[in-house]
Amino acid sequence: MRGVAVLHRLTEAGGTLSPSALERATGLARSTVDRVTATLARMGYVRLDGRDVVLTPRLMELGNAYLAALRLPALLNARADALADELDESVSLAVGDRDGIRFIHQATRRRAMSLSFRIGDLLPAERTAPGPLFATQWTDGDWRRWHERRAADPEDRGFPAVPPRNLSAQAVDDFEQRTAQAAREDWSLDDQLIEPGLVAISVPVRYPDTARIACVASVVSHTSRHSAEDLSTALLPRLRETVTAMERDLREAPAPQPATPPSDLATWTAASKQELGRDFIESLARGLTVLTAFGEGRAALTLAEVAKATGLARATARRALITYEHLGLVTQSATNRTFTPTPRVLSLGFPPLSRTSLPRIAQPHLEDLAAEVNESASLAVLTPSGEEIQYTARAATARIMSANITVGTRQPARATAPGQVLLSDTTPEAVAAQGYALVDEELEQGLRSLAVPIHDRTGHVVAAASVAMHAARHTHEQCVAELLPALRTTATRIETDLHMAAHFTQVPLT
Ligand code: PHB
Repeated sequence: MRGVAVLHRLTEAGGTLSPSALERATGLARSTVDRVTATLARMGYVRLDGRDVVLTPRLMELGNAYLAALRLPALLNARADALADELDESVSLAVGDRDGIRFIHQATRRRAMSLSFRIGDLLPAERTAPGPLFATQWTDGDWRRWHERRAADPEDRGFPAVPPRNLSAQAVDDFEQRTAQAAREDWSLDDQLIEPGLVAISVPVRYPDTARIACVASVVSHTSRHSAEDLSTALLPRLRETVTAMERDLREAPAPQPATPPSDLATWTAASKQELGRDFIESLARGLTVLTAFGEGRAALTLAEVAKATGLARATARRALITYEHLGLVTQSATNRTFTPTPRVLSLGFPPLSRTSLPRIAQPHLEDLAAEVNESASLAVLTPSGEEIQYTARAATARIMSANITVGTRQPARATAPGQVLLSDTTPEAVAAQGYALVDEELEQGLRSLAVPIHDRTGHVVAAASVAMHAARHTHEQCVAELLPALRTTATRIETDLHMAAHFTQVPLT
């Protein structure tokens, strides 16, 4: 539970905090914070950057497990994206999370003058368009919890993603009326409930043959483009058509392909405990490991299935599941006793990590490489014309004579090692076969560069990682024998993070 608290605070802080800030934010003793961060670092979920503890893309495997188990993003995201393109407005998908709503997809149009939410952000139901639709299905217990929360937190301090509620502007809370209206009309409106100017309209997407709401699709706009009134006349029909198509997709979806669960995790946690001793909190590692047992076709698992998938003893898996049920991260079905991950799993790092980019993913790995080989390391992409490369990330060394490249520098593609790697996708020649390029650059006398490709999830080359050095320092043979293995390891680390982050989000390449 303390480990989960640390992840929550890091998430709310945008992904980075110093240990002392974590100590203040969690109220935990410094020694506990240190043991938790050592455990998370061992799991690859955080890294230590100087003084700071920083969330890593690897942590997204938890949210990915939930989203894969849910299946809705895989089945519906493309339709949301198409609607956003057609309307040139943001479109989102949200699920209900107790008395809040949580986003599972965002097709965001970048605009000035409005807030945009991230996958995993939690909003108070009553300040959104999807909220009243979900509330049509609330039980008495849900309404009680909502009243209690409103009384205890009138300014929405418990929802760090939204600006605090302006109490004077909303003296009367008409959420119950809006819910009754949503029940009658099957759509709902947010007329600047979050902030001035922000308007949204929502329609529920139902599971086949049931009245149960799977998720809610919303179109989000700004009063400078559409009044609230306007949304319901101009945009509601198009949103409804999209939702009809989404419901057809759900009906016609093939049975899920059960993902292979991870294996041998229990062996790994035991070995880590052996090695790190007191600094490794095995119960934290085991608990988080349990979440990775879920996935596509593995949405509801029995205790025995979780134990088998993780390699944990039943009693251990049970303890983890009960703890996580208490934290609201899994629920247990009353009828068949299976466990299912909840939307709250997305609160473990997903919102800040879903807004990363390839250069940001690459930076720490390039820095590790530069420190290891004592040469500068870079990431580059092809410009749209395909004639040039542009450097997008760089880790320099302290050497006096290091290559004169900064982020943003452009060079002719053909004349550079990164360029040759980036062009090897389209012009198959030696470079594609050997998997690297080594070039004595014509651009700068004495400069030698070595580059390898970075592939996306579909196998396309999207960037090149490279090391640049003075030719006098390494012969060609030394480059291949000594630098290439380290560069390849770096490329694999960047690809692993990229593939994790890109599972359910768009990761910008620049
Ligand atoms: C959003 O997708 O950003 C969004 C959706 C519904 C709202 C507000 C914002 O009510």
